[in-house]
Amino acid sequence: MNKGIIVGISGASGAGYAVRLLEILLKRPLRIHLIISEMGAKVLAHELRIPREELQGLFDQMRSARGVKAEMVILDPNDLFAPVASGSFITQAMVVIPCSMKTLAAVAAGYTSNLLERAADVTLKERRPLILVTRETPLNRIHLQNMLRAHEAGATIMPASPGFYHHPQTIEDLTTFIAGRVLDHLGIEKPDSPRWEGHPDGKKR
Ligand SMILES: Cc1cc2nc3c(=O)[nH]c(=O)nc-3n(C[C@H](O)[C@H](O)[C@H](O)COP(=O)(O)O)c2cc1C
Repeated sequence: MNKGIIVGISGASGAGYAVRLLEILLKRPLRIHLIISEMGAKVLAHELRIPREELQGLFDQMRSARGVKAEMVILDPNDLFAPVASGSFITQAMVVIPCSMKTLAAVAAGYTSNLLERAADVTLKERRPLILVTRETPLNRIHLQNMLRAHEAGATIMPASPGFYHHPQTIEDLTTFIAGRVLDHLGIEKPDSPRWEGHPDGKKR
Protein backbone atom coordinates (compact mmCIF):
# COMPACT_ATOMS: atom_id res chain seq x y z
CA MET A 1 0.00 0.00 0.00
CA ASN A 2 1.25 3.50 -0.87
CA LYS A 3 1.96 5.86 2.01
CA GLY A 4 -1.03 8.17 2.61
CA ILE A 5 -0.21 11.80 3.19
CA ILE A 6 -2.84 14.48 3.77
CA VAL A 7 -1.93 17.90 2.38
CA GLY A 8 -4.09 20.81 3.51
CA ILE A 9 -3.93 24.22 1.89
CA SER A 10 -5.54 26.98 3.97
CA GLY A 11 -6.11 30.64 3.17
CA ALA A 12 -2.75 32.02 4.33
CA SER A 13 -0.38 33.65 1.90
CA GLY A 14 2.26 31.35 0.43
CA ALA A 15 0.46 29.13 -2.07
CA GLY A 16 3.80 28.62 -3.81
CA TYR A 17 5.02 26.58 -0.84
CA ALA A 18 2.10 24.17 -1.31
CA VAL A 19 2.62 23.91 -5.06
CA ARG A 20 6.34 23.16 -4.64
CA LEU A 21 5.69 20.55 -1.94
CA LEU A 22 3.05 18.85 -4.11
CA GLU A 23 5.38 18.82 -7.14
CA ILE A 24 7.96 16.95 -5.07
CA LEU A 25 5.48 14.61 -3.33
CA LEU A 26 3.89 13.69 -6.67
CA LYS A 27 7.19 12.12 -7.76
CA ARG A 28 7.03 9.62 -4.88
CA PRO A 29 4.91 6.47 -4.64
CA LEU A 30 2.36 8.07 -2.30
CA ARG A 31 -1.36 8.54 -2.03
CA ILE A 32 -1.96 12.26 -1.52
CA HIS A 33 -5.25 13.42 -0.03
CA LEU A 34 -5.45 17.11 -0.90
CA ILE A 35 -7.84 19.38 1.00
CA ILE A 36 -8.05 23.04 0.06
CA SER A 37 -10.17 25.27 2.29
CA GLU A 38 -12.52 27.75 0.65
CA MET A 39 -10.19 30.66 1.42
CA GLY A 40 -7.24 28.44 0.50
CA ALA A 41 -8.62 28.13 -3.05
CA LYS A 42 -9.24 31.87 -3.30
CA VAL A 43 -5.78 32.88 -2.08
CA LEU A 44 -4.12 30.19 -4.22
CA ALA A 45 -5.89 31.43 -7.35
CA HIS A 46 -5.01 35.04 -6.49
CA GLU A 47 -1.32 34.33 -5.81
CA LEU A 48 -0.90 32.13 -8.88
CA ARG A 49 -2.78 34.75 -10.95
CA ILE A 50 -5.24 32.23 -12.34
CA PRO A 51 -9.04 32.22 -12.25
CA ARG A 52 -10.46 29.98 -9.53
CA GLU A 53 -12.16 27.76 -12.13
CA GLU A 54 -8.71 26.89 -13.51
CA LEU A 55 -7.37 25.42 -10.28
CA GLN A 56 -8.67 21.97 -11.16
CA GLY A 57 -6.79 22.19 -14.49
CA LEU A 58 -3.60 23.14 -12.67
CA PHE A 59 -3.82 20.06 -10.43
CA ASP A 60 -4.71 17.84 -13.40
CA GLN A 61 -1.60 19.16 -15.16
CA MET A 62 0.53 18.46 -12.07
CA ARG A 63 -0.88 14.92 -11.88
CA SER A 64 -0.04 14.19 -15.50
CA ALA A 65 3.48 15.67 -15.43
CA ARG A 66 6.47 13.51 -16.31
CA GLY A 67 7.80 11.34 -13.48
CA VAL A 68 4.63 11.41 -11.39
CA LYS A 69 4.32 8.28 -9.25
CA ALA A 70 1.74 9.41 -6.70
CA GLU A 71 -2.01 9.21 -6.79
CA MET A 72 -3.64 12.46 -5.71
CA VAL A 73 -7.28 12.83 -4.75
CA ILE A 74 -8.74 16.28 -4.22
CA LEU A 75 -11.33 16.31 -1.45
CA ASP A 76 -14.29 18.62 -0.92
CA PRO A 77 -13.45 20.75 2.16
CA ASN A 78 -17.11 20.59 3.23
CA ASP A 79 -17.39 16.80 2.98
CA LEU A 80 -17.07 15.63 6.56
CA PHE A 81 -18.06 12.14 5.39
CA ALA A 82 -14.70 11.74 3.57
CA PRO A 83 -12.48 8.86 4.79
CA VAL A 84 -9.82 11.20 6.23
CA ALA A 85 -12.44 12.54 8.67
CA SER A 86 -12.07 9.28 10.60
CA GLY A 87 -9.10 7.95 12.53
CA SER A 88 -9.97 4.43 11.39
CA PHE A 89 -8.81 5.45 7.91
CA ILE A 90 -5.06 5.01 8.01
CA THR A 91 -2.76 7.78 6.83
CA GLN A 92 0.86 8.39 7.75
CA ALA A 93 0.94 12.13 8.35
CA MET A 94 -0.58 15.49 7.50
CA VAL A 95 0.87 18.84 6.54
CA VAL A 96 -1.02 22.12 6.37
CA ILE A 97 0.88 24.40 4.01
CA PRO A 98 0.42 27.30 4.27
CA CYS A 99 -1.44 27.29 7.60
CA SER A 100 -3.51 30.36 8.44
CA MET A 101 -3.93 31.66 11.98
CA LYS A 102 -7.59 30.65 11.70
CA THR A 103 -6.78 27.02 10.90
CA LEU A 104 -4.08 27.07 13.61
CA ALA A 105 -6.71 28.34 16.08
CA ALA A 106 -9.07 25.53 15.05
CA VAL A 107 -6.32 22.94 15.60
CA ALA A 108 -5.36 24.44 18.96
CA ALA A 109 -9.00 24.48 20.12
CA GLY A 110 -10.04 21.13 18.63
CA TYR A 111 -12.79 22.98 16.75
CA THR A 112 -13.39 21.32 13.39
CA SER A 113 -15.62 23.30 11.05
CA ASN A 114 -14.37 21.83 7.75
CA LEU A 115 -12.63 18.70 6.47
CA LEU A 116 -9.15 20.24 6.64
CA GLU A 117 -9.57 21.08 10.34
CA ARG A 118 -11.21 17.72 11.10
CA ALA A 119 -8.40 15.81 9.35
CA ALA A 120 -5.82 17.78 11.36
CA ASP A 121 -7.71 17.04 14.60
CA VAL A 122 -7.89 13.34 13.69
CA THR A 123 -4.17 13.29 12.85
CA LEU A 124 -3.38 14.65 16.32
CA LYS A 125 -5.72 12.32 18.17
CA GLU A 126 -4.24 9.34 16.33
CA ARG A 127 -0.79 10.65 17.29
CA ARG A 128 0.35 10.84 13.69
CA PRO A 129 2.73 13.62 12.61
CA LEU A 130 0.98 16.94 11.92
CA ILE A 131 3.10 19.71 10.44
CA LEU A 132 1.70 23.24 10.39
CA VAL A 133 3.57 25.56 8.04
CA THR A 134 2.22 28.72 9.62
CA ARG A 135 2.28 32.10 7.84
CA GLU A 136 1.57 35.39 9.54
CA THR A 137 3.66 38.29 10.70
CA PRO A 138 3.84 39.81 13.22
CA LEU A 139 2.27 37.37 15.67
CA ASN A 140 -0.11 38.44 18.43
CA ARG A 141 -0.38 36.80 21.84
CA ILE A 142 -3.29 34.60 20.68
CA HIS A 143 -1.31 33.30 17.68
CA LEU A 144 1.66 32.52 19.93
CA GLN A 145 -0.54 30.80 22.52
CA ASN A 146 -2.24 28.75 19.79
CA MET A 147 1.15 27.70 18.44
CA LEU A 148 2.18 26.53 21.90
CA ARG A 149 -1.12 24.67 22.44
CA ALA A 150 -0.83 22.93 19.06
CA HIS A 151 2.83 22.08 19.76
CA GLU A 152 1.95 20.66 23.18
CA ALA A 153 -0.77 18.55 21.56
CA GLY A 154 1.82 17.01 19.23
CA ALA A 155 1.90 19.25 16.16
CA THR A 156 5.13 20.54 14.64
CA ILE A 157 5.00 24.29 14.11
CA MET A 158 7.13 25.06 11.07
CA PRO A 159 6.81 28.73 10.17
CA ALA A 160 7.21 29.50 6.47
CA SER A 161 10.55 31.09 7.18
CA PRO A 162 13.18 29.89 4.72
CA GLY A 163 16.90 30.10 5.45
CA PHE A 164 19.24 32.17 3.29
CA TYR A 165 22.51 30.38 4.03
CA HIS A 166 22.22 28.37 0.81
CA HIS A 167 22.20 31.63 -1.22
CA PRO A 168 18.76 31.34 -2.83
CA GLN A 169 18.47 33.03 -6.24
CA THR A 170 14.82 32.43 -7.05
CA ILE A 171 11.46 32.13 -5.33
CA GLU A 172 11.59 28.44 -6.20
CA ASP A 173 14.83 28.12 -4.18
CA LEU A 174 12.91 29.50 -1.17
CA THR A 175 9.84 27.30 -1.63
CA THR A 176 12.06 24.25 -2.22
CA PHE A 177 13.85 24.99 1.06
CA ILE A 178 10.59 24.90 3.04
CA ALA A 179 9.32 21.87 1.11
CA GLY A 180 12.60 20.11 1.98
CA ARG A 181 12.17 20.80 5.70
CA VAL A 182 8.60 19.44 5.51
CA LEU A 183 9.89 16.29 3.77
CA ASP A 184 12.48 15.82 6.54
CA HIS A 185 9.64 15.76 9.07
CA LEU A 186 7.53 13.45 6.93
CA GLY A 187 10.49 11.06 6.80
CA ILE A 188 10.70 11.35 3.00
CA GLU A 189 14.21 11.61 1.60
CA LYS A 190 15.19 14.40 -0.75
CA PRO A 191 18.89 14.00 -1.48
CA ASP A 192 19.35 17.46 -3.04
CA SER A 193 17.88 19.41 -0.08
CA PRO A 194 20.15 22.31 0.87
CA ARG A 195 21.79 21.40 4.18
CA TRP A 196 24.23 23.34 6.31
CA GLU A 197 27.43 21.39 6.62
CA GLY A 198 29.69 24.08 7.98
CA HIS A 199 31.48 26.78 6.05
CA PRO A 200 32.88 25.42 2.74
CA ASP A 201 36.45 26.63 3.39
CA GLY A 202 36.30 25.36 6.97
CA LYS A 203 37.05 28.82 8.40
CA LYS A 204 35.27 30.14 11.43
CA ARG A 205 33.41 33.44 10.81
C1 LIG B 1 -4.71 37.58 -0.04
C2 LIG B 1 -4.91 37.08 1.37
C3 LIG B 1 -3.81 36.70 2.11
C4 LIG B 1 -3.96 36.21 3.41
N1 LIG B 1 -2.85 35.85 4.10
C5 LIG B 1 -2.98 35.36 5.35
C6 LIG B 1 -1.82 34.93 6.06
O1 LIG B 1 -0.69 34.98 5.57
N2 LIG B 1 -2.01 34.38 7.28
C7 LIG B 1 -3.25 34.27 7.85
O2 LIG B 1 -3.34 33.76 8.96
N3 LIG B 1 -4.36 34.68 7.20
C8 LIG B 1 -4.26 35.22 5.96
N4 LIG B 1 -5.39 35.63 5.29
C9 LIG B 1 -6.69 35.54 5.96
C10 LIG B 1 -7.30 34.14 5.85
O3 LIG B 1 -7.56 33.82 4.50
C11 LIG B 1 -8.61 34.10 6.68
O4 LIG B 1 -8.31 34.21 8.06
C12 LIG B 1 -9.42 32.86 6.44
O5 LIG B 1 -10.55 32.89 7.28
C13 LIG B 1 -8.65 31.58 6.66
O6 LIG B 1 -9.53 30.50 6.49
P1 LIG B 1 -8.99 29.01 6.39
O7 LIG B 1 -7.95 28.84 7.45
O8 LIG B 1 -10.19 28.17 6.64
O9 LIG B 1 -8.44 28.82 5.02
C14 LIG B 1 -5.26 36.12 3.98
C15 LIG B 1 -6.37 36.50 3.22
C16 LIG B 1 -6.19 36.99 1.95
C17 LIG B 1 -7.41 37.42 1.16
